[in-house]
Amino acid sequence: MFDEKFNYPEEIINGELYLEILDADKLTNGKGVKVELSDNPDDEVAVFLINSELFAVSNTCPHKHTREIYEGAIEDLTVSCPFHGWEFSLETGENMNPRFGGKSLKIFDVIKKENKIYIKKPGFEVPKWIQNM
Ligand code: FES
Repeated sequence: MFDEKFNYPEEIINGELYLEILDADKLTNGKGVKVELSDNPDDEVAVFLINSELFAVSNTCPHKHTREIYEGAIEDLTVSCPFHGWEFSLETGENMNPRFGGKSLKIFDVIKKENKIYIKKPGFEVPKWIQNM
């Protein structure tokens, strides 16, 4: 459920609903920024600027549900989880090593407009791992 305290401004861009999540000058090339969309730990997004391209993926690693993807090292448009090194494509979210069970990161549409960063407003679902707790 979307929480009022995370009430990011909404804007329709190209017919789709987007959330204005941060100022573009908060991003540094090759580094991630964490954005919390709600109280749900799975509603954290890791936003990256890499050589003028923007990427946004879930900040929650599917391995142990840690929330540090934004701190991961970047190489060739992949991000490594800082805990055990699982690697994910920033373009598709795909787990780059199939021997780790194919669990991938969710990706988000992210754009820059003027000096603001927007992500397409996601639908919020309770993930299966929380439903089963
Ligand atoms: S928690 Fe991310 S690789 Fe283990």
